[in-house]
Amino acid sequence: MVDVKKALVTVLISVVVVLLLADGATVVQACLPSDRAALLEFRSKLNEPYIGVFKTWKGQDCCKGWYGVSCDPKSGRVSSITLRAISEEPIFQRAKRKGFMTGTISPALCKLTHLSGVIISDWDGISGVIPSCVTNLLALRHLDLVGNKISGVIPASIGKLAKLRVLNLADNKISGGIPPSITRLTMLAHLDLVNNNLSGVIPGDIGRLKMLSRLLLTGNKLSGQIPESLTRIYRLADLELGMNRITGPIPASLGKMAVLATLNLGGNLISGAIPGTLMTSSIADLNLSGNLLAGKIPNTFGPRSYFTVLDLSNNRLQGPIPGSITTASFIGHLDVSHNHLCGKIPTGSPFDHLEATSFTYNSCLCGKPLGKCRK
Ligand SMILES: *[C@@H]1O[C@H](CO)[C@@H](O)[C@H](O)[C@H]1NC(C)=O
Ligand SMILES: *[C@@H]1O[C@H](CO)[C@@H](O)[C@H](O)[C@H]1NC(C)=O
Repeated sequence: MVDVKKALVTVLISVVVVLLLADGATVVQACLPSDRAALLEFRSKLNEPYIGVFKTWKGQDCCKGWYGVSCDPKSGRVSSITLRAISEEPIFQRAKRKGFMTGTISPALCKLTHLSGVIISDWDGISGVIPSCVTNLLALRHLDLVGNKISGVIPASIGKLAKLRVLNLADNKISGGIPPSITRLTMLAHLDLVNNNLSGVIPGDIGRLKMLSRLLLTGNKLSGQIPESLTRIYRLADLELGMNRITGPIPASLGKMAVLATLNLGGNLISGAIPGTLMTSSIADLNLSGNLLAGKIPNTFGPRSYFTVLDLSNNRLQGPIPGSITTASFIGHLDVSHNHLCGKIPTGSPFDHLEATSFTYNSCLCGKPLGKCRK
């Protein structure tokens, strides 16, 4: 008897659960009037004349048919805004051109408190600043404003966005420093601030960003040294700090990182010697060009050395090209030009395909593909 009761209760619970699930899946909430109003206020500060993406922003239900707007089906709250100028969507194909949008990003965006994604990218013409209130959007995981004309600073309280995984502000006109609070974004996997006007130093405790796999800061005015703590980011695969004003030495521990594949430090004021660890590391794309590096090219190459790019040009390197370089398993593009190197260029398979321009403007390099060495 007790068992029958138990079974009945179980069946009843199952039915209720199934009904609840079915209900959740079929009833899609319409957008909240307050979200709709915030979107319209956001839209009023933007102008996109060629494609007409905002022509779709009409009617009461902003969760239905409004281009680039997505809602959470359960709550009916706006969960993302995705406005990409370079898009495969039919709306862009018909216009047969890349989008262009002017205007500014309205603080009305911050009224959409359930936003997890804001992508407003590659419109070329959007100016103004990042509203500092975006740091109140605590559900935000993805903030991508790449390829606009946004100026001003990165909000100082950016560290409040504890769920942020992607922060891409590349190709804008953002000034000021990298806010120290950025190192509180412990979920951040992708930080791209390339080609802005950022100055100051890379925060010393950047190593707290344990989930980071890409750190891209090329093309700014950053100064100070490469923080040693960076080398403790286990997942870091892509570190690009080129075309800045970085000084000091290259931490040898960069060559010990497990998955670092791209290291671009080109066009800085980095000094000291090249750590030998870099030559047998996991790095395949190594650019140290245009710095103040001195001393010899480390004689530490081996079968583990595999370089698609090895650019050591425009430094103050002396001595010979080390013999061990011929034991590298692959060197696709080598550039050691514009240094003070001297001696016979080694012969071997990684070298057979290289042209003279890889070796020119040195003190006294000789041998193929340059002229014969004098006895
Ligand atoms: C770049 O930032 C500096 C301050 O660091 C500022 O004086 C300068 O006007 C900025 N340049 C542009 C083009 O925004
Ligand atoms: C290395 O970096 C410098 C400076 O950013 C750049 O000019 C050069 O083209 C880069 N080398 C390669 C092979 O990409």
